[in-house]
Amino acid sequence: MQVKRVGVVGCGLMGSGIAQVAALAGCEVIAREVTLELAQKGLARIHGSLAKLVEKGRLKAEEADAARARLKPTTSLADLKDCDLVVEAIVEDLDQKKRLFAELGKLCKRETILASNTSSFPIGEMADASGRPERFVGLHFFNPVPLMKLVEVIQGRKTLPDVVAAARSFGEACGKTPILAKDTPGFVVNRLLVPLLHEAVLMVERGDATFKDVDAGLELGCGHPMGPIKLLDYVGLDTTLSILEGWHARFPSEPAFKPSELLKRMVKEGKLGRKSGRGFYEWEGDKVKG
Ligand code: CAA
Ligand code: NAD
Repeated sequence: MQVKRVGVVGCGLMGSGIAQVAALAGCEVIAREVTLELAQKGLARIHGSLAKLVEKGRLKAEEADAARARLKPTTSLADLKDCDLVVEAIVEDLDQKKRLFAELGKLCKRETILASNTSSFPIGEMADASGRPERFVGLHFFNPVPLMKLVEVIQGRKTLPDVVAAARSFGEACGKTPILAKDTPGFVVNRLLVPLLHEAVLMVERGDATFKDVDAGLELGCGHPMGPIKLLDYVGLDTTLSILEGWHARFPSEPAFKPSELLKRMVKEGKLGRKSGRGFYEWEGDKVKG
């Protein structure tokens, strides 16, 4: 099955990136947000990214124009009913995702593949909630989507092999290298990465080192492009906390998943990282201030 029409639900950091790479791959894209204002904000992020790619000579102006023309914002879920593939990228909240998939399962045409970009939740649970688990797959893109070259494809227990194949082909059409992961907590990348980010926060909380020194440690000592605290800001403290809370609820005896008090406090104070302009660092758009 060739994916030509794509629905993206949620047009925040990740949804806007997924909509962008799908449009660049030649798909018609319908991006659903809860308000038109948020949908327009997502589109503005896409336009900014496309302009940057053109400015850097990585994309032709005509290709960017064609991608822009393929993108349509909406607030109506029903507009996604004829899509070949719907990728969900709403907030990391399992109940909200399950409710959304139950609705999508009812309204989408029979052939539609439903996919979640979840960072951490079980694909199988969302697949069952959708009522069409055989046509459900995990499609986990990485942030920033226009630049990161990986997509994890997660096969649920009931996912049909041709659905996995279609998801892989879609990922490749979007310019990504797919890896196949099992439906385990955090799949491949986040099972390794999220405990690293969390341990960095715990170090700062204990006063072992300043957050800037923790980052300098991994940037200069291990060649990471961003230290773990900067990356946490980049990903979103709220998203990371939701991941940890979900794992902690499912695996209460695993100490590494018990969310740090500092992380909880910062989220409560609205210090979400890049998306709110303030986390551990202060941000101006995509850059750390100063
Ligand atoms: N769209 C288009 N271009 C962009 C862009 C975007 N969204 N963001 C940055 N760029 C461009 C910049 O203009 C710049 O272009 P030039 O190299 O031509 O000058 C280039 O990309 C590099 O950007 P910066 O100068 O801002 O900074 P950088 O050199 O540090 O690169 C980065 C940015 C690619 C994000 C790099 O820092 C990096 O790889 N960081 C780690 C990201 C990472 O680990 N992501 C995974 C997060 S975890 C996840 O996604 C999973 C989950 O479920 C939580
Ligand atoms: P975000 O907060 O930037 O965006 C989420 C968007 O979803 C918001 O704009 C919100 O208005 C919208 N939304 C909420 N409910 C909706 C609904 N019912 N219909 C339509 N839109 C709705 O979050 P994000 O960072 O883009 O994360 C989205 C998903 O991607 C999460 O599951 C997250 O775990 C995952 N993810 C995040 C990253 C990252 O680095 N931030 C990386 C990979 C995967």
